[in-house]
Amino acid sequence: MCGITAYVGDDMAVPRVLASLKKLEYRGYDSSGIAFFENEKLNVVKSVGTIDRLEERICPREKQSHIAIGHTRWATHGKANEANAHPHLSQNKSVCVIHNGIIENYLSFKSKLTNINFYSQTDTEVFANMLDVCLNQDFSTQNVLKNLNELTKQIKGSYAFAILLSSCKNKIYFAKQKSPLILGIGKNFSMLCSDESALCEKTEKVIYLQDGDYGFIDKSQAQIFHSGKETKRKQFAFNFSANCVSKCGCEFFMEKEIKEGTQSVLATLENLQSINTRRLEREMKNSKKIFVVGCGTALHAGEVFKSVLEKECGLDVILDYASEFRYKKPNIGKDSLCIFISQSGETADTLASASFAKKKGAKCLAITNVQTSRITKICPYVLKTQAGVEVAVASTKAFMAQLAALYYLVLLFAKIYNKKITFSLKNILNLCKNGNNDENFEQIAKIAQLIKDEKSLFFVGRGLDYFMAKEGALKLKEVSYIHCEAFAGGELKHGSLSLIDENTFVVCLLTQKELINKMHANIIEMQSRGAKVILISPFCELKDKVFMFVEIRQAKSSLMPFVVSRPLQELAFLCAKEKGLNPDMPRNLAKSVTVE
Ligand code: AGP
Repeated sequence: MCGITAYVGDDMAVPRVLASLKKLEYRGYDSSGIAFFENEKLNVVKSVGTIDRLEERICPREKQSHIAIGHTRWATHGKANEANAHPHLSQNKSVCVIHNGIIENYLSFKSKLTNINFYSQTDTEVFANMLDVCLNQDFSTQNVLKNLNELTKQIKGSYAFAILLSSCKNKIYFAKQKSPLILGIGKNFSMLCSDESALCEKTEKVIYLQDGDYGFIDKSQAQIFHSGKETKRKQFAFNFSANCVSKCGCEFFMEKEIKEGTQSVLATLENLQSINTRRLEREMKNSKKIFVVGCGTALHAGEVFKSVLEKECGLDVILDYASEFRYKKPNIGKDSLCIFISQSGETADTLASASFAKKKGAKCLAITNVQTSRITKICPYVLKTQAGVEVAVASTKAFMAQLAALYYLVLLFAKIYNKKITFSLKNILNLCKNGNNDENFEQIAKIAQLIKDEKSLFFVGRGLDYFMAKEGALKLKEVSYIHCEAFAGGELKHGSLSLIDENTFVVCLLTQKELINKMHANIIEMQSRGAKVILISPFCELKDKVFMFVEIRQAKSSLMPFVVSRPLQELAFLCAKEKGLNPDMPRNLAKSVTVE
């Protein structure tokens, strides 16, 4: 996923676009660039690395232009280098494009552009040249809109384009298909952005462009077209503070967002209690099969849900990675409830899976943190989590909110099937309201110091603790670059135990009372091969039998994922920090993977 932004108005455009890019950096940060007019000439400045490096290259030339477009990249086509960074200019420098998405059929276009010497490996540079050729030196608004419409219709894939023409200093053209693009409107300026968080504080209205929309903005208006005709889109009042993301005094967003985890649970449950779920409950009751689909951390939340629902309500759940789901030709039909979990609501594999299930006639429910995301357009049923904007790539508070929404779903199933289950909504609310969540921070910091230089690390658990071990392993590996692997405790002796020696650290989770003896046996197995076991558990009987012990609060077994999440998230964050890494923007990753 990449971030695109554009400004045209009375203010200096370059500082506006740079500030906007900094808020979009979480969408991709291997390179960035900006196009603006300098002494009447269209100029492009690019840089590998963070936006700060781009800013250094531009100063003090930023006082030059009332119009600019900017891009921060997560590489899909071509290396993360300056040549492939956006914006991309056509060969004769008439057309300048920034793009979020993938043009799947770009090579067929490229093969027709035989007289162009491409400087990059990107699909975007191909598009810039395609448009330039189609315009044929006629840069009138009418001709640009006509060709933009015709050309984008030939594209297979996804795009959010912002386009500057060297001959036009007051208009920015746009086109949108599958990738998010919103319009921000204020007094004497207009903006285009990938999401609301990057709009400037003076924005008064916001328009959510639809797939197939194209048009232009200038400082006083936005003209939107669809299939050759001008169209109107609903304007929403824009609340800057609600979308404004700040670190609230923390050094990193990840630290702040871990602290917000409990509030995210409470806000999500409060919101869910206020909505009418009767229609959804009817679909749940009429469904014979339940599917759960997502990616990464979202699917770990799904695994917890599957385990709890199966145990508490005796309902079978079929769970799969979104990237695998539709290729297995699952037996889905009108009798199926398909639950798609996605914080961003823009993850390409999850969107494709939802579209696939919907086409099969399934009842589709989205659990997402972004109300305006594409998954809410595909799924007729939506349970919105209330984690607020999550900036750090590693999902923490959003994961907690996903758990809250999924446990709420278990409660609805229990009501529908009249099942007596081991927990109530009140139990979850009290668990979150009571107890200081910083209780283990110092001890986790010591462990982070201890393991930060390890090459690999094991996470081991049984039952719910196994799924949480998977989440703990993902968190640590994605921000600290230490190879981590999660194992079901009972599986170790079937092969993986061979990896254990006296240098091996193993983080063991033991929160399920009925599994104490079994897990204790696994710990002994590993320790007898030299493993250094770090046990995270509310049960103190093993405290003196392991290398390190982290005591956590005890709650009902089925609710322990809410408790054990935080120490795992803190361990990942502190380990990354100890290693001098930026936990908010881990290498090679982006906040939402909008390519399959
Ligand atoms: C979470 O820590 C990861 N960054 C990643 O696995 C993420 O959960 C996954 O990409 C799914 O994202 P989504 O929830 O926005 O669909």
